[in-house]
Amino acid sequence: MSGHEAGGLKESGERFSSSGFILAAIGSAVGLGNMWKFPYITGLYGGAAFFLMFIVCMVVIGLPVLLAELAIGRGGRGSVTTSFIRLSGKKSWGAISFLSILAPFFILCFYSVVAGWTIHYAIISFTGKLYASGDYAGQFSAFIGGWLPVLWHFVSMLVTAAVIMKGVSSGIEKFNKVFIPGLIILLIVLMIRALTLEGAGEGLSFFLRPDFSKITTESALVALGHAFFSLSLGMGTMITYGAYVDKRQSLGSGALAIGAGDLVYALLAGLIIFPTSAAFGLEASQGPGLVFVALPAAFGAMPFGAFFGGLFFLLLAFAALTSTVSLLEVPVAFLKDTFGLSRNASAAIAASLIFLIGVPCALSVGGAAPGLTFGGKTLFDWFDFILSNIVLPLGGFIVTIFVGYAWKGAAEEAGLRAGWFRLWLFMVRFVAPILVILVLLYSAGIIRF
Ligand code: PFF
Repeated sequence: MSGHEAGGLKESGERFSSSGFILAAIGSAVGLGNMWKFPYITGLYGGAAFFLMFIVCMVVIGLPVLLAELAIGRGGRGSVTTSFIRLSGKKSWGAISFLSILAPFFILCFYSVVAGWTIHYAIISFTGKLYASGDYAGQFSAFIGGWLPVLWHFVSMLVTAAVIMKGVSSGIEKFNKVFIPGLIILLIVLMIRALTLEGAGEGLSFFLRPDFSKITTESALVALGHAFFSLSLGMGTMITYGAYVDKRQSLGSGALAIGAGDLVYALLAGLIIFPTSAAFGLEASQGPGLVFVALPAAFGAMPFGAFFGGLFFLLLAFAALTSTVSLLEVPVAFLKDTFGLSRNASAAIAASLIFLIGVPCALSVGGAAPGLTFGGKTLFDWFDFILSNIVLPLGGFIVTIFVGYAWKGAAEEAGLRAGWFRLWLFMVRFVAPILVILVLLYSAGIIRF
């Protein structure tokens, strides 16, 4: 159906080059999830056994849903709601899929705050200030308990908006073409450093030797939830990026390349964090503080630690910013499509609102602004909890139902051969929705094991 038939919705004319699309999608997938969350949940749920489950979840559920999202975007050639309406011919799908516009908007409110922390940490590591007192926990809580995170949140949104304003090929694509290869170089340098530390072997074997007794229903659901987060699914980002993909690009091999890229980054992050933790006697499962508290202690104790620590936080900042760019593009494409606003105006409006909503998030997490804790969780934690655990699986569920049951042209757009297509359809129709609902019920605390 052409854009004009579907209620005057205009087709997006912006396009990625083939390599630009893969790099931008990898940039979206690789982020704080790989470097900050993946290591500590892997530590918590049994090391290599968890990593294996994560791979299985990515291949069995993640890739089929990723392909579905890319196909919706390219088939619909518009923002999330535009594409759903255009492909189904029904306005109601626009309303349902609006959730996938809200989700990245709100996720950015706290994701950008953490991105800001990483920029600050890169700077204080390079200057050596991070290592001056030796009290890393105290320093971290003093930092997040102050006002400085608001400034860094602002910087991170400013960079993100500037990239988005430059457009798809000169902004998003160019940014990722510089930063994604940059990330790989940083990862390799840091991996060599980590693997050559004395005592690194223990961490390595924890990460790479599976203990299957650690596989439980709970860890499987966490692995599945993380596969979704890590591949940026359920948030409209892959649908929006899909709208800029050339018709000649094979979406199946694109999805494979994105999945493989994400996995390689997770593997390399693990090869840095586990050996480093083991070499300095740190617990890899100690939670979110691992990266900002424990690892600085490790860097502080190694030769040229300020330099390697600086590189590590720079790596996190790059990874985070290529993800914030993909998140902001979703509401920007929506504002452009739906209200006919310019890219610049859409980016300025969305980024300003996200900045403002992010301020109380930033201030709540370290306790700088009292009164922002409800039911034992800070505002920041509520955002993370509701979005990552509830809205994201729900967004994924909507995609599977749409592709599995509502959109008849999915086969053609996905471009799979008959056998693969049947398998894919089976996954998105039956397996993925059921498992995604299980993740949702589990994450929301409705079922327990
Ligand atoms: N995939 C990113 C990460 O692993 O950090 C986070 C993310 C980006 C989630 C974009 C969702 C999204 F739409």
